[in-house]
Amino acid sequence: MNVGVLASGEGSNLQVLLDTVHGSGGIVVTAVASDQPGARALERAAAAGVPRGVFARDAYPDREARDRAIAAWLGEQGVDLVVLAGYMAILTPPFISAFAGRIINVHPALLPAFPGIRAIEQGIAYGVKVFGVTVHFVDEGVDTGPVILQGAVEPPPDALTDAAAVRALLQPVEHRLLPEAVRLIAAGAVRPDPDHPRRVLVDRG
Ligand code: GRF
Repeated sequence: MNVGVLASGEGSNLQVLLDTVHGSGGIVVTAVASDQPGARALERAAAAGVPRGVFARDAYPDREARDRAIAAWLGEQGVDLVVLAGYMAILTPPFISAFAGRIINVHPALLPAFPGIRAIEQGIAYGVKVFGVTVHFVDEGVDTGPVILQGAVEPPPDALTDAAAVRALLQPVEHRLLPEAVRLIAAGAVRPDPDHPRRVLVDRG
């Protein structure tokens, strides 16, 4: 299974994919694309010898045109599964339909709570005691697609209002769940529930 990763920033999730699933179990990261030319994620891709694509916002007339270009490039790289790993732009319908059912995202909250940007800060503002991570399929909404895996974290009381502390607690969960989801998909262990459109059946073995 050829994996294409979209990342806008640091790329720590990309790095974990490169270090764990890349080159094992028939999984190859064949492409890394970014909307941010200076993204650290692109350096990580270069260091791993993975082809990179840069799709800067101002190089295209509109978001759809850019998304068509990204989708076409990923197609040329033979990508089967698209992983959003800190990709900060919302994908438009032409991209979603090009890879329908084959796009996953990692989000730093227990969806459906706190979709969109600054999810950890949203949770702190709400006063939650439990934070978490969701890996989910991507549809045309913002963090609305079917859930594949979730993991929860209960920060100590003094960390409950500290976004950096919560982020540090969530990062290992992301770094565990995202590669696991990719492995499970590659193994054919993730499938839609025929009896329920929102549910995903996951066989974790
Ligand atoms: C992660 O927190 C992920 O949940 C969110 O963006 C962040 C990306 O981090 N979607 P990194 O670039 O992989 O380090």
